[in-house]
Amino acid sequence: MFKEINIRDLKKSPVSMLADEWALLTAGDENKFNTMTVSWGAVGELWGKDVVICFVRPQRYTYEFLENSDTFTLTFFGGEYKKELGFCGSKSGRDFDKVKETGFVPMKTGDGISFEQAETVIVCKKIAFQDMSPNGFLSDDIMSNYGNNDYHRTYVGEIEKVLVKE
Ligand SMILES: Cc1cc2nc3c(=O)[nH]c(=O)nc-3n(C[C@H](O)[C@H](O)[C@H](O)COP(=O)(O)O)c2cc1C
Repeated sequence: MFKEINIRDLKKSPVSMLADEWALLTAGDENKFNTMTVSWGAVGELWGKDVVICFVRPQRYTYEFLENSDTFTLTFFGGEYKKELGFCGSKSGRDFDKVKETGFVPMKTGDGISFEQAETVIVCKKIAFQDMSPNGFLSDDIMSNYGNNDYHRTYVGEIEKVLVKE
């Protein structure tokens, strides 16, 4: 069972939930969706709205789903399922059925898809995107992330719903 909470009432730092515990970023619908592991992202406020910001390289299969979806979800597992998250973060949905390989059970959540094993789910409405440009990089070490010129697309999602397992 999940209950809805306000994003302000998360029990843990969202930085730790993303950077240390990792999350699944999922887009699509119950008929066809894709998911991938993310650890880069932000939770905060923009344009007077509570938002999530994700960073997705254009070669990800999930990118195609994000482009064609109005909704995306972030699913957190409280530091569990690292092996499965490692799989979803190293293999592409183009080549593998990630649900079959990991045992994550899809769950319709608002207008998006998340997974029954979740500890926390954030459902977002995609409201903006912006491509990273090296023109704006002020620190020399940033470019080391872009050997293939595969600059992230930044997706801003307005937080529609936050669910935590009871
Ligand atoms: C811990 C971890 C964090 C990751 N974070 C991101 C991220 O924030 N953005 C991104 O584009 N890729 C990230 N990746 C890489 C993707 O998850 C990976 O390329 C994945 O296989 C893409 O799957 P897809 O092709 O099915 O979309 C991360 C991988 C791992 C293991």
